[in-house]
Amino acid sequence: MRNYMKLEIPSKSLNEAFARAAVGAFAAQTDPTVEELADIKTSVSEAVTNSIIHGYRDTVGVIYIECEARVENTCVIEITVRDEGVGIPDVERAMEPLFTTAPDEERSGMGFTVMQSFMDTLDVTSEKGKGTTVKMSKAINIGTRDEELETRTGLPKSASEAHFLGKRSQPEAGETSLPARKRTSVGIGDDGC
Ligand SMILES: Nc1ncnc2c1ncn2[C@@H]1O[C@H](COP(=O)(O)OP(=O)(O)OP(=O)(O)O)[C@@H](O)[C@H]1O
Ligand SMILES: [Mg+2]
Repeated sequence: MRNYMKLEIPSKSLNEAFARAAVGAFAAQTDPTVEELADIKTSVSEAVTNSIIHGYRDTVGVIYIECEARVENTCVIEITVRDEGVGIPDVERAMEPLFTTAPDEERSGMGFTVMQSFMDTLDVTSEKGKGTTVKMSKAINIGTRDEELETRTGLPKSASEAHFLGKRSQPEAGETSLPARKRTSVGIGDDGC
């Protein structure tokens, strides 16, 4: 099962909040924990801010954002933020904690480090004069989610999961008779994610 979205936005600073909210809304469909969602939004915010501030520095260019949610055993969200700005001459160096080319602008050089620690994978490719692509992914933790579901619904894990996945709308005999969650508002498909 797969869901995706694509965005194209001008590199204006007000669009940083928009990108963060848009990706957050997409990711929220996969029912992440509050912490997972915050990690994803912060990482997107860092990548988009980099494109605005460093990539397109004194100009306005286009930032391309792509998100994909895939269900395998767990749900994985993959996010790509790409610009066609100045590029990074030495990516390895740029990714070192505290490295910044803009110390005068109160930059701390921690953007890539934040992305690295908040996401499961981070891949940065760049070419001087051509632009930068930041690809990151995060698995949405089904184990944690099941525990949360048990707590929220009061149903045993198997029943909670079945309701969550929208596979059955009524509890079976002997189970607590709580109303089934409306799957349509949180899921991204019949398979769940
Ligand atoms: N999209 C980009 N285009 C060009 N250069 C970039 C881009 N993203 C990052 N860089 C370069 O990599 C450096 C490190 O980026 P990082 O996000 O880690 O720190 P920062 O942006 O300088 O500071 P902070 O994110 O903590 O405010 C930047 O200072 C900049 O030189
Ligand atoms: Mg940064």
